[in-house]
Amino acid sequence: MSATDAHHDVIVIGGGPGGYAAALYGAGIGLDVGLIEYRALGGTCLNVGCIPAKELLETAHVFRTVGHAADFGVQASAPTIEWGTTLARKQSIIDQLVGGLSGLLKQRKVTVYNGKGSLGADRTVTVSGGESGELTLQGKAVVLAAGSTTRSIPGFDVDGSVVMTSDEVLSMPKLPGSAVVIGGGAIGCEFASMMGDLGTKVTILEALPQILNGCDADAAKVVERSFKKRGITTRTGVMVNGHTPKPDGSGTTVHFGDGESVEVDAVVVSVGRRPFADLLGLEGTAVGVDERGFVQIDERCRTAEAGVWAVGDLVNTPQLAHVAFAEGMLAIRDILGEEPAPLDHHGTPWCIYCNPEVAFAGHTEASAKEAGFDVVASKHHFVGNGRAKIVGDTDGIVKVIAEKRPDGTGGRILGVHMVGPWVTEQLGQGYLAVNWEATVDDVAAFIQPHPTMSELFGETVLSLTGRGLHG
Ligand code: FAD
Ligand code: NAI
Repeated sequence: MSATDAHHDVIVIGGGPGGYAAALYGAGIGLDVGLIEYRALGGTCLNVGCIPAKELLETAHVFRTVGHAADFGVQASAPTIEWGTTLARKQSIIDQLVGGLSGLLKQRKVTVYNGKGSLGADRTVTVSGGESGELTLQGKAVVLAAGSTTRSIPGFDVDGSVVMTSDEVLSMPKLPGSAVVIGGGAIGCEFASMMGDLGTKVTILEALPQILNGCDADAAKVVERSFKKRGITTRTGVMVNGHTPKPDGSGTTVHFGDGESVEVDAVVVSVGRRPFADLLGLEGTAVGVDERGFVQIDERCRTAEAGVWAVGDLVNTPQLAHVAFAEGMLAIRDILGEEPAPLDHHGTPWCIYCNPEVAFAGHTEASAKEAGFDVVASKHHFVGNGRAKIVGDTDGIVKVIAEKRPDGTGGRILGVHMVGPWVTEQLGQGYLAVNWEATVDDVAAFIQPHPTMSELFGETVLSLTGRGLHG
């Protein structure tokens, strides 16, 4: 009798965006796929990441809108927040999406195992500690998609009430009166914006000279100015040294910089996430893990173990759900021997949903110069855009960075950086322009619908041809 309980064409370990994309895409092409998840399908993204964070940010958006209703002649009483209702709405959206994903996997005949997946030699995977019991599976190919998890800094032990990571913030029973956010990256800025708009007195403490590292400095400045106007304090270039919790557990004093401190009810630690290879076993395999814990891969997501791929937050590429989707699909195409083109992470689209929103792809002005390009950049402001005025949200810019031609006009578009209303929904054109290596002339030839916010992108590109219309 064989010790193997089941054979699959592909075994996927981890049911987040990377894992479920590989499973759905592979099964859609006709592969027999087994997917192992020990917690909830949907992973970080659906359960404690993208979806719940954006839902809470939408609550903040509604709160702001109602607060400004009188500007439109709509009389409404001053908004108050029922946090319990907000949390219930968030959970119901998660439940619907996790349920939908589960249905889709069933429809595609993916075998879902509940338990911890561990990889051994020769693409053998054991499942243990869950509802599926103890099993040994054999795959022709294996995709590791175990994702990432929260991390803290020394001295800040997460207790879930005073010291929190994103996992706790997304389900905190009440909004704190005041909070320090350690780290002004994507999570830090989204949570600072959400809590600040809902009445929490927020201080962001960021070690680097700018918040939102990776985004163009001009765009980051717009966010910082908007935060300041709304009472959110941003301190850049400061290291956090430790904290002194109050004996009654009601808050703490955070120490930072050169002897400065701030007393708050809560601390949100958002200093990056670490890959989560902890339960993957990997003993007896050639799968390599680097010093930061990332599983090492080549440009087609292959590990050093024959027949084993790794995707998503587990590997050292941008930690984004859409990158995990793309890598999951790439791995399947490589498993099928299609020799897919590697992904170009330089052109990855980034969308950050704080208020104002931030969206970008490609070079910043500074990184284009560092890369040796002769650069010309143009920047236009939403304050001149009709639709932004109608919506009542005019804070923001579109900045396009292009290669400079000898006559000073723009050639190839190298980067598009947007900050302002709905820019996460407007990046599409900029993303295509950068990744299609379009020139300013190529893009300027297209018409933008009126009145839309996207006219600002068209206007910015047009100005780089040397001939503007409005600006
Ligand atoms: P994960 O989503 O972490 O999924 C991995 C899964 O594997 C988990 O379900 C885990 O339980 C399971 N697992 C791990 N080990 C095993 C094992 N041995 N056996 C079985 N199962 C296992 N990205 C965006 O693109 N846009 C956003 O707006 C965005 N917002 C975010 C907001 C927050 C607060 C956070 C924390 C993240 C956000 N992200 C966002 C990042 C995004 O969530 C991740 O990039 C994405 O979830 C990575 O997908 P993944 O499949 O690689 O890993
Ligand atoms: P991050 O890497 O984006 O930002 C962490 C920030 O913390 C950095 O700016 C870093 O300089 C700072 N930092 C680190 N240690 C510090 C210290 N001791 N004191 C002060 N500052 C310190 O990581 P974050 O925000 O935790 O998010 C993790 C990842 O999740 C992101 O990189 C992103 O890939 C993903 N994410 C994506 C979102 C989106 O696409 N909208 C939203 C939220 C998360």
